[in-house]
Amino acid sequence: MASKTEQLDKLNGFMSECSKCALRAGCTRVVPGEGSAEAEIMFIGEGPGKKEDELGRPFVGAAGKFLDEMLAIIKLKREQVYIANVVKCRPPGNRDPLPEEVAECWPWLVEQIKIIDPKLIVTLGRHSMERFLPNQKISEVHGKAMRREIPEIGKRVFYTLYHPAAALYNGSMREVLIKDFRRILRVLEKIKKESL
Ligand code: URA
Repeated sequence: MASKTEQLDKLNGFMSECSKCALRAGCTRVVPGEGSAEAEIMFIGEGPGKKEDELGRPFVGAAGKFLDEMLAIIKLKREQVYIANVVKCRPPGNRDPLPEEVAECWPWLVEQIKIIDPKLIVTLGRHSMERFLPNQKISEVHGKAMRREIPEIGKRVFYTLYHPAAALYNGSMREVLIKDFRRILRVLEKIKKESL
């Protein structure tokens, strides 16, 4: 049986050759995700921006810097978690991904989640939340852990956060996001004690 890292490497190879939707033709690089294949926490954002598209890595622009800062607050390094996106190719001009693009890319995310098998999935922003927890308002569910059964990936615990980019220039949202972020490890501990 191949290790999780080997399985992810193989998956990344397939992803880099994907052209199932039109996004691939308009982007520079596929951004599969990065981090530890053994991660207990998986962060899922929306899609690559300009910098991510240039470097082929997730969350390496301004929002990524803020994400790194918040990880540092809870004493985690990027290498200890896994960071991915709902769509792996940059939507032109950073527009929102279209439902059909999210749908085409979904099997890749399913495979990533199945391989990593994280204990906690942290959604970053509305688009990521909606893929797992439809019909919710992020203003109502941010900072709350929810266990849900999703057909392709089984029962999982989700923790919803505002997107770091949305909080960059909004002081009060930034405070809320940091406050929610600080609870991540407590949520993880609860999951491990099976009290969530
Ligand atoms: N925003 C996202 O949602 N994902 C990235 O990778 C970068 C910015």
